[in-house]
Amino acid sequence: MQPRHAPINPLISGMSGPPIPQAQVWAAGYDGSHGPLINLSQAVPGNPPHPDLLARLASAAGSADAARYGAIEGDIALRRAYADDLDATYGAPFAPENVAITSGCNEAFAVGAMLVAQAGDSVIVPTPWYFNHQTTLAMMGITPIALPALPENGFILRAEDAAALIGERTRAIALVTPNNPTGAIYPRETIAAFARLCRERGIWLILDETYRDFIDGDAPPHALFSDDGWGENVIGLYSFSKSYAVPGHRLGAMTADPAIITQIAKILDNLQICPARAGQSAVAWAIPYLKDWRRQNRDDILARAEVFREAIGRHPAWGIETIGAFFAYLRHPFQDIDAVTVAERLARERGVLALPGTWFGPGQERYLRVAFANVATAQVAGLGDRLDGF
Ligand SMILES: Cc1ncc(COP(=O)(O)O)c(C=O)c1O
Repeated sequence: MQPRHAPINPLISGMSGPPIPQAQVWAAGYDGSHGPLINLSQAVPGNPPHPDLLARLASAAGSADAARYGAIEGDIALRRAYADDLDATYGAPFAPENVAITSGCNEAFAVGAMLVAQAGDSVIVPTPWYFNHQTTLAMMGITPIALPALPENGFILRAEDAAALIGERTRAIALVTPNNPTGAIYPRETIAAFARLCRERGIWLILDETYRDFIDGDAPPHALFSDDGWGENVIGLYSFSKSYAVPGHRLGAMTADPAIITQIAKILDNLQICPARAGQSAVAWAIPYLKDWRRQNRDDILARAEVFREAIGRHPAWGIETIGAFFAYLRHPFQDIDAVTVAERLARERGVLALPGTWFGPGQERYLRVAFANVATAQVAGLGDRLDGF
């Protein structure tokens, strides 16, 4: 049959549809017989935002000021507050000029990719990958080169494996730590080795640290920013969605050398003109004032990880391959059944919605990604019962 519309970009028509709605269809087929749905699919904080943050959002949204366009790189109050937060996180100096605020970290990644690469170039991304990284690159005609993270190494990457993949047109390596989907937290030495490799080869290291506030302890997650030359080839990405439980307000950040932020602003002006303003003003307030709340959330999620271990521990055929920050990567026991079938059955028959590993790249048939941070501890504890006899 002839298409009834003019041709569209084949890089878009060739892509598969957004994965989360597909999983939601399975959940809709669950009859409730084992209790309420336990939704461990999209990484969404289980808790609502702090009530004072909600009050500030309401008041900002009702102001005439927030209805106006703002600065392209984001409002100065949020850039300043975030730069201070970076100082405290990494023990290194940052200025507001190091920061651009974006409409979420997904946009930050897209902007980073546009900044460093053009169609025909390549970017190295670990597999399993965060699917939106792979698809963002692919829809811009940038080739994602898969760098396999192996279960025998705890899904921690090795810079020497990446070195062999860097070609003439490779412009960057994009890492996610703590990782989505595996939950693996890369050691400082690993991150340092990747930064060294990128610098030696004259390419960018794009580091997505969306989940860094959920790491146990207060030590800096790495020392990259203590190196005075970091701005030459490092771009940091962050999301306010998870840490402040505001994914609907679409706020993320990019950290880079001020000269690079100036280049980034050219892209942001075209994509967003400015980030949404009400959220910016509320989050600028929240960064210093909700420090303890953030810590408490992190501690609750760490406790939930232990409950998850216990619940799954009752089923030795299921293996927790890795666990950290927001996610666990589960090895399912069915040798000859692919992960999509297992995830669909688990959702429809037991009311447990997790994502199949195969949605995160090649070679992931035996895994499910479980966003255990999404739901209350009691629901996590209930997972053991849901797997009984499955
Ligand atoms: C690794 C990673 N980066 C970026 C994002 C997107 O975050 P945002 O809501 O800020 O766009 C997510 C969300 O799941 C993520 O897991």
